[in-house]
Amino acid sequence: MQNIKEELLLKLKEVKNLSDLNDVRVLFLGKKGKIQEKMSLMSTLSNEEKKSFGQEINLLKEEITNLIEELKFSLEQKELSEKLSKDKIDISLPGTKIVKGSKHPLNKVIEEVEELFISMGYDVVTGPEIEKDLYNFEKLNLPKDHPARDAQDSFYLTEEYLLRTQTSPVQARTMENNLEKGPIRIICPGKVYRRDNDDATHSHQFHQIEGLVIDENISLAHLKGTLEVFAKRMFGNEREIRFRPSFFPFTEPSIEVDVSCFKCNSKGCSICKNTGWIEILGAGMVHPNVLLAGGYDPNKYKGFAFGMGPERIAMLKYGISDIRHFYSNDIRFLNDFNRIEGGVDSED
Ligand code: PHE
Repeated sequence: MQNIKEELLLKLKEVKNLSDLNDVRVLFLGKKGKIQEKMSLMSTLSNEEKKSFGQEINLLKEEITNLIEELKFSLEQKELSEKLSKDKIDISLPGTKIVKGSKHPLNKVIEEVEELFISMGYDVVTGPEIEKDLYNFEKLNLPKDHPARDAQDSFYLTEEYLLRTQTSPVQARTMENNLEKGPIRIICPGKVYRRDNDDATHSHQFHQIEGLVIDENISLAHLKGTLEVFAKRMFGNEREIRFRPSFFPFTEPSIEVDVSCFKCNSKGCSICKNTGWIEILGAGMVHPNVLLAGGYDPNKYKGFAFGMGPERIAMLKYGISDIRHFYSNDIRFLNDFNRIEGGVDSED
């Protein structure tokens, strides 16, 4: 037994890793190992001898087991620390950048306008881009032979259908859909189409935001108050607005609305063409014929309507010089825009 122990100590000295150690364990403690070999000698002994031999062999087995376990533990620790130092993660290494998307400047303006009007109790509604002549023109007081139809060169799809030239048809649709013929307060953002040669300030497809309020006793003063809030919110608290007479077939009176120049504070600059004022939208009191076409009694109800171009608002507000930037999907413009938000166009 002493020999076995000495042999074990020698073998353990040679052990370099867990796999060597396992070989040693099998050699001594395995089914055909040295301890088992000794155990099998038991049958040749007398009962007396069996007892002391049994005790000794069990002690030896325990001792060997402990020695192997101890070595196993220290080998495991060693392997673990080697692995940890080898597989070390360098947390100072820069990660892979995730490219972040951002809102398109037009959507930003549209959402800003929506939020403002929602806060004043308006609903946001939409209408179809492929529209009937009936809603785009006729119900807006533009009968078939009306000369003002020429002012809006349209993309007709059939005799009856065209790509809407304005968001105003949503006025007609909303009045028609309102079965109680009660008050209405809506804005309607969306795309519109006109035959135009594209250049820095013209596009055959652009956006409008329509507004419509109908109630008893609505007056031009309500329109002015509402648009004043709008102008201050979009262009700054110091802004004032002014009305100029204009013409739209679906409003009477019709007006064009200017905002005092936010660039030069009305002193005169290139943006306001030295007038101190910038035109921002068209508006007016809903024409009695439009109310009638929508099933409203013009003696009971009055309304105001307005239409604005978010492209124009974004160009003024952010100093963007070319309307085509909005549609070319040039990532440099979009990145630039996000970087300079509220600043000026890189080309200016
Ligand atoms: N639809 C008009 C346009 O496209 C704008 C407008 C809307 C004017 C509502 C008055 C009232 O020019």
